[in-house]
Order: sequence, then C-alpha cells, then structure tokens
Amino acid sequence: MSAFALKGGVLHAEDVALPALAEEFGTPCYVYSRAAITAAYSAFERAFAPRPHLICYAVKANSNLAVLNVLARLGAGFDIVSGGELLRVLAAGGDPGRTIFSGVGKTAAEIRLALGHGIKCFNVESGAELDRIDRIAGELGKRAAISFRVNPDVDAKTHRYISTGLKENKFGVAYAEAIPLYRRAAALPNIKVTGIDFHLGSKMMDPAPAVEAAGKIFALLEALATEGIALSHFDVGGGLGVPYEPGEGEADLAGYARGLLQLLEGRSETLVFEPGRYLVGNAGLLLTRVEYLKPGAVKNFAVVDAAMNDLIRPALYEAYHDMLPVTPRDGAPSTWQIVGPVCESADFLGHDRALTLAEGDLLAVMSAGAYGFVMSSNYNTRGRACEVMIDGARAHLIRERESTPLLFCHESILPR
Ligand code: LLP
Repeated sequence: MSAFALKGGVLHAEDVALPALAEEFGTPCYVYSRAAITAAYSAFERAFAPRPHLICYAVKANSNLAVLNVLARLGAGFDIVSGGELLRVLAAGGDPGRTIFSGVGKTAAEIRLALGHGIKCFNVESGAELDRIDRIAGELGKRAAISFRVNPDVDAKTHRYISTGLKENKFGVAYAEAIPLYRRAAALPNIKVTGIDFHLGSKMMDPAPAVEAAGKIFALLEALATEGIALSHFDVGGGLGVPYEPGEGEADLAGYARGLLQLLEGRSETLVFEPGRYLVGNAGLLLTRVEYLKPGAVKNFAVVDAAMNDLIRPALYEAYHDMLPVTPRDGAPSTWQIVGPVCESADFLGHDRALTLAEGDLLAVMSAGAYGFVMSSNYNTRGRACEVMIDGARAHLIRERESTPLLFCHESILPR
C-alpha cells in the first residue's frame, strides 16, 4: 500500500493528514515517508538476498541527513559524488567503509578527504584521475582501493539528459581501454584494484539494458581474472525507476534480480548497487497551495506557491509529476496549467491537469522524493522549502524553511 493515501476524504502521509502539516509548517513543503523508504529498501534487499551484496544509496537523489540516517540504520552503504556528500554521510551516522566515491571530477582535496576517512572505493573515470589518486595516496602513506567505471556503450533508452552509458557521454572509461588501464593500475604502488563498475542511466523501468550492460562488464571482470587481476566486487550502478504517472506499473525489480543473479551464479564477488530514485522517489511529495486561479481564453492557470526553484524536473526534463488534490472536491473538473510564481515560462509543475480547484486548496505533487529538494535553488530570492519526515503518526521537521536574510548573508556591498 502506498504511504500516501486518502483517508476520510483527505490525503494522508502515513497517519498524518496533509492539511495539518501545511498548518504547522507552511507550504511549499517536502513530505517524506519513513515507511516508504524502508519498504523500498527492504524490497531491494530481499531481491538480492541470495548472494553477497551491498546497497550503496546514491546520496545525490536526496541528501537530507534524516533520509541518510534512516538508510544507514537499515544497513545501507552510500554512493557519493563530492566531499560535501561524504561529510553528510558522516554527519548522518553512515559508514565511510561502506561508501564509494563516483564522479568524473574529483578534486585533490576531495580525494584527500575520502582517503582520510577510509572510504571503501573510488570509482575512477579516467587515467588522469587514477594518477592523481595514486599520487595523493602515496603522500598520505595509504593505498587507495579503486574500481574503474567502464562505459558499456549500451543505450539505457531513457531521457537523453539522464542517459550515461553511451560512448558519446562524458562518463566512464572506454570499454576497449579498460583492460590496459587495469594493468596499469595493478602496477601502481599506492593503488589497490578491488572492483569494476558501470552506471547506465536513470529512470529505467525495463531492466533489460542494465542486465545487458552487466553482461558486457562482467566479461571484463572474467578476462582480468585470467591475467591474475582478481576483483572482489562488481558494481552495477543505479538507475532502476519508479512510476510517475497514474496507472504506470512498477519497475521490474524481480526481472532485474533474475538477470543479475543468473549472471553471477556460482561467483563470490560482492554485487554492489548505487540506487537513488528507486529508494526514495515515491517516498516523497511536494505539498503546495493554490494562490490564485487565473482562467483565460486559451488556457487556465492555477498559480501555486511552489515553483521551478523548488522542483525543477518538469522544467528541465519535461518530467511528469502526478498532482493530487489534498481534499478532493465535488464538481466538474477544468483543465489547468499548474504554474509557480517564478518569472519564466518554464516555471510549471504540470500541464493540462483535469482538476476541480479553488483558491487556497492544497495540492500534492507526487513522486518528489528523488531529485526534488536537492536540485532546488534560491532563484528569484525564494527561500528553499522545508522538509518533513513522517514516521507513523509523528511529523519531524528535518529541514527548516530558509528565511530570507539567510539567502544573502554571505553577500556584501562595496565599501564607500
Ligand atoms: N550512480 C551514479 C554514478 C549516478 O550518476 C547516478 C545518478 C546514480 C548512481 C543514481 O541513479 P538512480 O538510481 O537515482 O537513477 N536529476 C535526474 C537524475 C540524474 C541522475 C544522475 N545520476 C532526474 O531528476 O531525473
């Protein structure tokens, strides 16, 4: 059952009525369900229970400390892409020894920080990065564990902005260069070769491309073993999607598991995952209030108090987010453009939604748990929304709404 459901004609998050949250914390407000995060994590855990595995949650999807802490308590590891994300993992009680560091542009300072905290592995994306890690590890008297992110050149069949596993993308080392790079890495004094990884893309509902890519990358692991370069983990990245549209089915987790378990049958390598969206995407919504209704000759606009600075996915990817009235009204629906107050025509949350609306109504923008708050900005000098996590009948404020003076407290004017 979804953590967000109508009870007595009012939309709830677990056992908390959303109007009560709007009353207490104001809008716009991100609302997360601990039970929904736990359920998604447990489903993933169960699917891979038959073999050694480690789920490294992709922190970028939602990096609120409370979210990270819930996952750390469930036993998750973490996939980070910056020194800042590492500090968040530590602040949330995550284990650096179960943390892997992805990304094409790790700075020397970030590499030093990560080595200092003893992370599990660097997912290396180029020969130049390998040399930098080797040099810094040498300076620190450490050996850095590494994996190469290999570009499988398989089409994830998803939005072009979130597709990463094709030759033309900036990510990973080329397939043909992988083995020579491993040979080079194995000979470096301050490097310990421990794994191989790839990440194909995001929001994949059909696991077939990911399983196909896994097969291609696994062939490299086997070839390396014949040369005496034995790897202890096989990291298949993230990317499994969640449904966004009404009636859309769930991503095929069982098929994904079947494909990967079959590929690794009889093998002892730890299977590592980097899921983000799958664990939190449908565990969150963005609660917003209708400020004005502006019916027009050509289009009807409902101006809400959340905007593209709060949730940029519709503007950036033309992403669809379902929109539910918190207290559904009777009466014939009209077709509305759901827009925010920001001065951009791209400032919309949804087009052509059939809803029965009145000024002051609350709307829930669904599937906003992943790549929602984390991609928000202060554009138009708008403080970022607050975040609340629901746990049963309790609501915890896990990030305060940003106050306006805070937004320019790091700025200064010129001297006279
Ligand atoms: N691992 C790596 C190396 C990644 O680059 C990503 C996401 C993940 C794991 C997690 O992917 P997931 O399981 O969440 O699909 N902002 C976009 C999504 C960008 C994904 C970037 N990389 C969106 O809102 O759809």
